[in-house]
Amino acid sequence: MKIQAGSSRPFPESEGSVGRGVSDAGVFSLMLPDDAATQALGARLARVVRPGLSVWLSGDLGAGKTTLARGLLRELGYTGRVKSPTYTLVELYSFSRFNLYHFDFYRFVDPDEWQEAGLREYFNDTSLCLVEWPEKGGELLPKPDVRVCLEIFDAGRGARVQGLTEAGIRCIAHLPRL
Ligand SMILES: Nc1ncnc2c1ncn2[C@@H]1O[C@H](COP(=O)(O)OP(=O)(O)O)[C@@H](O)[C@H]1O
Ligand SMILES: [Mg+2]
Repeated sequence: MKIQAGSSRPFPESEGSVGRGVSDAGVFSLMLPDDAATQALGARLARVVRPGLSVWLSGDLGAGKTTLARGLLRELGYTGRVKSPTYTLVELYSFSRFNLYHFDFYRFVDPDEWQEAGLREYFNDTSLCLVEWPEKGGELLPKPDVRVCLEIFDAGRGARVQGLTEAGIRCIAHLPRL
């Protein structure tokens, strides 16, 4: 198995990973040696994601989910501060052609909140949704098109990126190379 970024460290979760590109299955893994590498992966994703897609960011506290979202938002041209939505549940970023909603369900406990907050309406054809802690979002959370799983290593992080719908797989297939 080859891993990007020149690391020889095995990445246990990888499936069908390839050194530079993407496997036929729309899955690939890479090492992220530092914060900048996590942001760079977010920036690559920014080049291929489209309104209407939902991107799940999984991984433990501190795995780099918000960092990846920050890199993606910067690449889209957002220059302000990218805050973690841990306490607000969702942060909105308005771009000229679409809205980006950055969710964090870490503190989400009551699925009834879905109805009260009208969360379903955020997931539509004209919005791009990034979701941290999707595992805590409950059954009503729409399924993702792309999932990024981040894993903490002694030095750096491992990332596994997977397209899960036709649109998601297409995205990953067009991901710019490093
Ligand atoms: N690839 C990486 N290697 C080392 N540290 C990283 C990497 N990516 C992000 N970090 C750092 O990890 C910390 C937690 O990142 P954050 O994005 O807030 O995690 P999460 O949102 O998953 O809880 C930050 O200090 C960030 O700079
Ligand atoms: Mg976070």
